[in-house]
Amino acid sequence: MDGILIAERLRSRRQKDDDPRMTVTLLPPELAAYLDQLVPPRHHILAAMEAEAAISGFPIIGPATGHLCYLLTRISGARRVFELGSGFGYSTAWFARGVKDNGGGTVHHVVWDEDLSQQARTHLRALGLADVVQFHVGEAVTTLQNSNEEFDLVFNDIDKQDYPAALGVITARVRPGGLLIADNLLWGGRIFDPGDQSPETAGIREFTRLVEGDPRWISSVVPIRDGVLVAWRSG
Ligand SMILES: C[S@@+](CC[C@H](N)C(=O)[O-])C[C@H]1O[C@@H](n2cnc3c(N)ncnc32)[C@H](O)[C@@H]1O
Repeated sequence: MDGILIAERLRSRRQKDDDPRMTVTLLPPELAAYLDQLVPPRHHILAAMEAEAAISGFPIIGPATGHLCYLLTRISGARRVFELGSGFGYSTAWFARGVKDNGGGTVHHVVWDEDLSQQARTHLRALGLADVVQFHVGEAVTTLQNSNEEFDLVFNDIDKQDYPAALGVITARVRPGGLLIADNLLWGGRIFDPGDQSPETAGIREFTRLVEGDPRWISSVVPIRDGVLVAWRSG
């Protein structure tokens, strides 16, 4: 199937969707459900956060991507994690669990919305993970830039038009041998649609091109849910 056909099929799926914030996964629904079901049973607070996101339409990474983030945190032994564009603490919880199981460290939760930050504090306390999380309210890329620290792992989930400009700051802050994970690289299929020149879609396309073309990163897009970039800083 060529790019235009994929784009048309996905556009019609999106039009059936009531809430434009909901991510349209490229995976057949039964495959997406199967991958989510493979994730081991979760803390009831994490499950409640998934239910809350399903009702409100808030775009969390979901169980399969969350578990991948936990796995990558464990494999890499990461103890210093920086999350750009956090929400009410769902993705943070997966990284925080990984950091805690690695022996402890810090996960930076950054969002510019005070209310979301407060919700995240409540959730992470209830999960028993708040001791490894540092909360910041503000613009995420500036907060990373001002941190003057190196990180083992950076996770990027900010507004999509801002992905390309964030890459230089991220590259400067991930230590050689560290990881970058970024969500929404397939953007519900909009990236295949030549008629979609919105700033968000253009931002994802440009970010993907920049990472793939940068010899300091070895990367791959894992096509679970909405596409997850996993990149290793080789130099
Ligand atoms: C996609 S949601 C994050 C979901 C979260 N990763 C999860 O799975 O639980 C992105 C959040 O970050 C906020 N945001 C977007 N760009 C931002 C930026 N540059 N700085 C701070 N917050 C940002 C959005 O308003 C939104 O609340």
